[in-house]
Amino acid sequence: MHLTSDQEKMLDGEEGEVVERLFRLLVRLGDIYGAEKMIPVGSVQVAGVSYKSIGDPGLEFLEDFAAKGAKVKVLTYLNPAGMDMENWQALGFPEDFATHQIKIMEAFRKMGIVTTATCTPYLAGNLPRFREHIAWSESSAVSFSNSVIGARTNREGGPSALAAAICGLTPNYGLHLDENRKPDVVVKVNADLTFSSDFGALGYHVGKQVKNKIPYFKGIKDANTDQLKALGAAMAASGAVALYHAEGLTPEASLMETTGLETIDVGKDELGQTYEKLNTGKLPDIVILGCPHASLREISALAKRLEGKKLKKPIWICTSRLMKEAATRMGYNDVIEAAGGQIVADTCMVVSPIEEMGFETTGVNSGKAANYLPGFCKQSVVFHNIDELIRRLALEN
Ligand code: F3S
Repeated sequence: MHLTSDQEKMLDGEEGEVVERLFRLLVRLGDIYGAEKMIPVGSVQVAGVSYKSIGDPGLEFLEDFAAKGAKVKVLTYLNPAGMDMENWQALGFPEDFATHQIKIMEAFRKMGIVTTATCTPYLAGNLPRFREHIAWSESSAVSFSNSVIGARTNREGGPSALAAAICGLTPNYGLHLDENRKPDVVVKVNADLTFSSDFGALGYHVGKQVKNKIPYFKGIKDANTDQLKALGAAMAASGAVALYHAEGLTPEASLMETTGLETIDVGKDELGQTYEKLNTGKLPDIVILGCPHASLREISALAKRLEGKKLKKPIWICTSRLMKEAATRMGYNDVIEAAGGQIVADTCMVVSPIEEMGFETTGVNSGKAANYLPGFCKQSVVFHNIDELIRRLALEN
């Protein structure tokens, strides 16, 4: 790989031990994938934030780097942590878990990383532009930035994203290159998609079919950005899909050629079977929305549905701290809390230890969450649209 003289100096340790170690990791990655050069990144999103995922070894690694003075060179955000960083006690997160999670966040903060912990950084102040090179980690954020925004990122692991943040660079390979962004398969959709959960079911089904490939959707009549994030998140979870195109909806779709590609048809039956497959429980102990993290539109939609109601069981909606702030100003938080729900910031149902908090059956409207909850959190899953989930919480009034 060609390195500039400044990059050679990083490799020689002129910017200190941490930069040398992390840049060496990027060079090795670039060599493995045949990158010809390094490219600057506009922003980074680092996964591996929850104490549940990284444990004590991860915490020690981060504290060591922070103590050695590691500092990020570009705007860097975090993926969700294992708990709401402000409201964890009231929500019932275990004290010992919280102590470790707070230390992790402090190590990131010392490195200059924005401690807004979210998988929708693009809704919370970290919005890349079309064709901007970035290095993001969380699979739904990677899918959204590549597909809906048209930015360029590979799916980074926690260490390679941290390396990109501290060096300001990433090797130029994979989805950073035009030739690797072309579709491999056409997906013809012949079904009405109304709720986010319909997009989640579609994404889950297609991800399983196409595995690692780039699908090109035809026939999706309309979708807002919340629905597109639900689609991408589910596909990333079930099939490691990091980029998709959707005719008339995503920015690179009109630049792509689809003649002669293999075609998959998806209709009402496939979606119905997917709902059936993802449902392993009936009555939820809790409903958790906001996978990926909820937008203000999604929080307001929930508040509207809960206005004047009283829930028998809890409902959470997970989001970023900034979205919660905006929702609070709009009074949505008061409405949701009056119904017995919570807007939970900084975390989500998958990376938080809900299995240690007495929950066994969780209701979700996300194909991604439905995919992960049984394995990661030992939950039975109720996967439905938001109206059906609320109905199953047995509302009074
Ligand atoms: Fe985000 Fe957690 Fe879902 S990180 S995409 S809310 S599993």
